[in-house]
Amino acid sequence: MSDQKLYPVIPAIAASAHIDTDRYHEMYRRSIDDPEAFWSEQAEQFLDWERRWDSVLAHDYPRGEIQWFIGGKLNVTVNCLDRHLATRGDQIAIIWEGDDPSHHSTLTYRELHRQVCKFANVMKSQGVGKGDRVCIYLPMIAEAAVVILACARIGAIHSIVFGGFSADALRDRILDADCRFLICADESYRGGKIVHSKLNVDKAAKQCPNLRTVVVIKHTGHDIPWSNGRDVCYHEAMQSADETCEPELMDAEDPLFILYTSGSTGLPKGVLHTTGGYLLYAAMTHKYVFDYREGDVYWCTADIGWITGHSYVLYGPLCNGATTLMFEGVPTYPEPDRFWQVIDKHRGNIFYTAPTAIRALMAQGDAYVQRTGRDSLRVLGSVGEPINPEAWEWYYRVVGDQRCPVVDTWWQTETGGILITPLPGATALKPGSATLPFFGIQPAILDPEGHPLDGEAEGILVLTFPWPGQARSVYGDHQRFVDTYFSKFPGYYFAGDGARRDADGYYWITGRIDDVLNVSGHRLGTAEIESALVLHDQVAEAAVVGFPHPIKGQGIYAYVTLNVGVEGNETLKAELKNLVREEVSAIALPDAIQWSPGLPKTRSGKIMRRILRKIAANEFSDLGDTSTLADPAVVEQLVANRQHPS
Ligand code: WTA
Repeated sequence: MSDQKLYPVIPAIAASAHIDTDRYHEMYRRSIDDPEAFWSEQAEQFLDWERRWDSVLAHDYPRGEIQWFIGGKLNVTVNCLDRHLATRGDQIAIIWEGDDPSHHSTLTYRELHRQVCKFANVMKSQGVGKGDRVCIYLPMIAEAAVVILACARIGAIHSIVFGGFSADALRDRILDADCRFLICADESYRGGKIVHSKLNVDKAAKQCPNLRTVVVIKHTGHDIPWSNGRDVCYHEAMQSADETCEPELMDAEDPLFILYTSGSTGLPKGVLHTTGGYLLYAAMTHKYVFDYREGDVYWCTADIGWITGHSYVLYGPLCNGATTLMFEGVPTYPEPDRFWQVIDKHRGNIFYTAPTAIRALMAQGDAYVQRTGRDSLRVLGSVGEPINPEAWEWYYRVVGDQRCPVVDTWWQTETGGILITPLPGATALKPGSATLPFFGIQPAILDPEGHPLDGEAEGILVLTFPWPGQARSVYGDHQRFVDTYFSKFPGYYFAGDGARRDADGYYWITGRIDDVLNVSGHRLGTAEIESALVLHDQVAEAAVVGFPHPIKGQGIYAYVTLNVGVEGNETLKAELKNLVREEVSAIALPDAIQWSPGLPKTRSGKIMRRILRKIAANEFSDLGDTSTLADPAVVEQLVANRQHPS
């Protein structure tokens, strides 16, 4: 498909960009030919170190061992805050835009630094220190940046749990990392509705005996239950806190954070990222992928509960001294022009969002976009799932007025930062392709037996060589890290995605090849949803698959086998949905539930998800070979009873 529509680099963008086409190729070559020299230079250029590293890289992929800048010492907040004070203390670091369009505020670098130091002292006075895990369960409010950075200031490891996750999901994450200290808000707003954050914490805390302290940030200000002795008011604690706090000296390989993400099996994994390599990679990709320039207003719409929020709302931009916008709301509230209104209001130059949002807004028609100016925009970005060419074209043509390159960035929680992406001034674009590898990134495509394929090829996407932003472990379970990412194809990092490389060497991500779903850009494991469904005492078995959904990318389709003698009905469906909402999150609710007296299984008892996916997708003509099934008649029955997703 190299004959796909090609958009050449926009000359006006290339003329002033950090990286043009020649420079991309030259730097890329060098990053591959001499990675240690290349990454040394970048680490010097992008970060301030207290002590220089002794060696750049040591790795052993089959054992999942990766170390960068060994012996180097630094503190993340010195890089994100202190070093900016002399030159940009009064520059705005964070623009906060509330769910309600009349709410917004700003924090300068000086003010952010002051608040981070204060909260770091609050944590210290509560006994939190280096290496302790701190759970953060917050909406998109500016204080989230304060408490996250305060953890990094004192070397505590943050574990941010997306504010949309349920009390039970929160509990699992608190327990897994043994967090004893948690920060939440009283409540938050989302699209005009209230989210009861503190109530969820109270519920989770009942089953977390080690959780000693809950710091509550007042956001809505409504009355909430209070647990004396455990709960601490953020604002009162901040009032008396000291404004100076020496940064903890961290080793390059000391943990910075844990972030839970879904995989094919079991409970979500606590992906562990470390200090030096992660920060370098976040900062460098932020600068080059978005062609970030001094003075730009940069806006990534991701929630801080996801990796995109970590790397591209906070760490990357702040390390580069940028003005970063944090948005509490949703794209369609109060009206579907909200994104464009916010861009005009704050004169946003760079805008980074997810395909699901683009598709949802595209469906509302062009008029909502066209009634706004958007003339400040220079670069548009996309992340989280494959962007279909139609949505890409709309983003480019209608939102960007054909002036702004669209960078379709492929990466993962585990990769820490963007791996495959265009660079605005360097890469000709093909709608739907994440294009070319970033500096230092060596993708390969394997056949199912693990043989690398040359030239034009389609298969399994792996990375052959480490990069500094790569995850280092799964918290508390290194073997799981090895098993998940390094065992299937020894010598490679296995990403879990399929990809195609075209004649121009461009990569086209074809989606997950495992049982991970991508629903509205949210990563969910089918196993998590299935475990929630089987908790119901009338359910014998459940199998969950994804199906193509016009707005969400993927929808969720659940096949549920009830206990013998139980009749499926709407009440039971509602109960099952409720279970999923309580166990996982409202984002994991099935779009369809089909009562399935039998599931297609091999004779050894393995559910054949391939067939379930086809039925959910309404593709009955090509169900493939069903002869290996224990009971082929099951398939006909499932086809006859397919549900129309809501
Ligand atoms: C998918 C989000 C196609 C992919 C940063 C990956 C994408 C998973 C893209 C990681 C893209 C992310 N094109 N697919 N540009 N970006 N994905 O961990 O399947 O939430 O494995 O990280 O999202 O999701 P995660």
